[in-house]
Amino acid sequence: SADGSKVERVVLSGPEGSSAEVYLFGATVTSWRSGGRERLFVSSLAKLDGSKPVRGGIPLVFPQFGPGDLPQHGFARTRRWTLFSAEEHGQGVVVNLQLKDDADTRASKWPFKFDLLYTIDLTATTLSTVLRIENVDSQPFSFTSLMHTYLRVSDIATTAVGGLKGVVYADKVKGTSDQVEQRDEVTVAANEDRVYTNVPGIVTVTDGGEKISIRRFNYKDIVLWNPWAEKAAEMSDFANEEYPQMICVEAGTVAGSISLSPGQTISCGQILTAESTSANI
Ligand code: BG6
Repeated sequence: SADGSKVERVVLSGPEGSSAEVYLFGATVTSWRSGGRERLFVSSLAKLDGSKPVRGGIPLVFPQFGPGDLPQHGFARTRRWTLFSAEEHGQGVVVNLQLKDDADTRASKWPFKFDLLYTIDLTATTLSTVLRIENVDSQPFSFTSLMHTYLRVSDIATTAVGGLKGVVYADKVKGTSDQVEQRDEVTVAANEDRVYTNVPGIVTVTDGGEKISIRRFNYKDIVLWNPWAEKAAEMSDFANEEYPQMICVEAGTVAGSISLSPGQTISCGQILTAESTSANI
């Protein structure tokens, strides 16, 4: 449709049956299919009508991670973004969404002038999401940001996260901040809410024969979150029995912040790669 104001979501169709879906509300990616499987988790109780942030997929956190002056996780995940462009390329399809400051954001506790371009690029085996932030204000600003990725897993009991060994983490459930991860394979068997800081390389999530690799740039940290039964019960938009089907592995810069001077830009992002270790490719 030529009338961008009527677009609610964009469906990307890539090679080999790959696909993705993104809502303009919050620029939230709500589906990623690759290798014949849905790779993202969205709760059956998630609100997709713009009444609250989507419980699942990839909500985009900007300019504030967690609680603070702004509503939890900032305003980007609850604003309506504009469809900027969409095109096919040699290996798949790419969509760009845009969000600029407006009267509401300028009246918020983060009143700066900004220009965000969010690029969602799908190939047969990858989904890359890149946020380009430009400071179009006359003064410097700083922010935290994160891609709050809810990965779908067959069973949290057989899910392991690699690439975190030796990394210092803050444990928001236990209230500690100076622990060092000792495990090659991190498993989750309780309400977990951790910020791993300055994670050096690729993070992997394995689940039976399935593996997702997470590569990042200009995002230093990884948040690991599963609400388990007790936290799930507190969320009206998350079904109680769903917590074994998901794990949040969230690429971001949240322990420190990113500063931009007037006119400066930065691109932050992740590339998710789906690899099947069991099935024939
Ligand atoms: C995680 C935080 O990133 O997001 C958790 O570390 C938080 O503390 C979770 O509970 C979900 O946040 P929200 O606002 O989407 O319920």
